[in-house]
Amino acid sequence: MQTKKITLSQLDEAVKLIQAGEVVAFQTETVYGLGADARSDEAVAKIYEAKGRPSDNPLIVHIANVKDVEKYTEEITPEARLLMEKFWPGPLTLILPVKENTLSTLVTAGLKTVGLRMPATDSALSLIRESGAPIAAPSANTSGRPSPTTAEHVIHDLRGKIPAVLDSGTSDVGVESTVIDVSVEGKATLLRPGGIPREDLEEVIGPIEIAQQILTQDSAPASPGMKYKHYAPDEPVIIISKEEFARKIEVYQAKNIKIGLLADEEVIAEFNLQVEATFNLGEADSPSAASRNLFSGLRYFENTEAEIIIAQSFPKTGMGLAYMNRLEKAAGSL
Ligand code: TXA
Ligand code: MG
Repeated sequence: MQTKKITLSQLDEAVKLIQAGEVVAFQTETVYGLGADARSDEAVAKIYEAKGRPSDNPLIVHIANVKDVEKYTEEITPEARLLMEKFWPGPLTLILPVKENTLSTLVTAGLKTVGLRMPATDSALSLIRESGAPIAAPSANTSGRPSPTTAEHVIHDLRGKIPAVLDSGTSDVGVESTVIDVSVEGKATLLRPGGIPREDLEEVIGPIEIAQQILTQDSAPASPGMKYKHYAPDEPVIIISKEEFARKIEVYQAKNIKIGLLADEEVIAEFNLQVEATFNLGEADSPSAASRNLFSGLRYFENTEAEIIIAQSFPKTGMGLAYMNRLEKAAGSL
């Protein structure tokens, strides 16, 4: 199969593919998604196949109208209503009780709940609206690899395995949506930190519990996606704070290990000349900038001589929680 790169002016080609039960990769504000008609078993099976994704890990269903939530859920809890009013379209996925026989059971992986999100890009919203289908879409990377934030990342991973990528530029947020279980009133639980900080959600619905797996590895995962290897580049990743760079770089230099430095502009400016390769995460001390550039950075070092990636840590508040979650997974420590 040839993988075609198309632009928004060729939207009709992407729409036809979705309507024919094929998969199409498309840009969202978080990362690129690999979409298919969420009502069709056959179409959804193609997503799992192209990604090499384990079939017990459910997919998010993307909709283009807030009202469409009613089509796929049994009950919209008060928390869900408040959050969708405030944050949709946007990087927030709500887990709600699924309405039976409305979606392929492959999407929910047999669970009684479904993850719903209204994405914020024109290309995603147009694709959903024009094809007239709810679109199931995980990130459009090979399972286990860093998520794609450009059409080139998608092509690198999935060339020959999918018919088309709708290229609309770089994804702005850079990490996936925040996933929150609001299926039971009064029990909001954060399952995956992401594009909307927990603090912002709490301002709207009050205190939110954090699922244990975000912080540690033990106990059964509340979100099936938590138990798999994720975001791993080819090189080992070491996470350190800004203050530790000088010492750590010396340690690896002494061992003759070629270092890739993934850090903010201040750190890069300081240690640039002492390492093999650098990738600039952006303005100093900004977890939002670092989140936007993280996956690109992890992929970047694969084309360099670096044997190890030394990556900058951020405090786990605001966007720092999502950034650190992805980085710790890439490092294999979560
Ligand atoms: O930003 C995003 O969310 C991107 C773009 C394409 O929208 N999509 C994405 O999908 O990240 P994916 O499949 O890579 O991640 C979906 C996450 C997984 O961790 C999965 O386990 C969880 O959401 N999830 C989906 N449905 C669930 C459910 N019913 N209950 C609990 N967790 C669920
Ligand atoms: Mg993913």
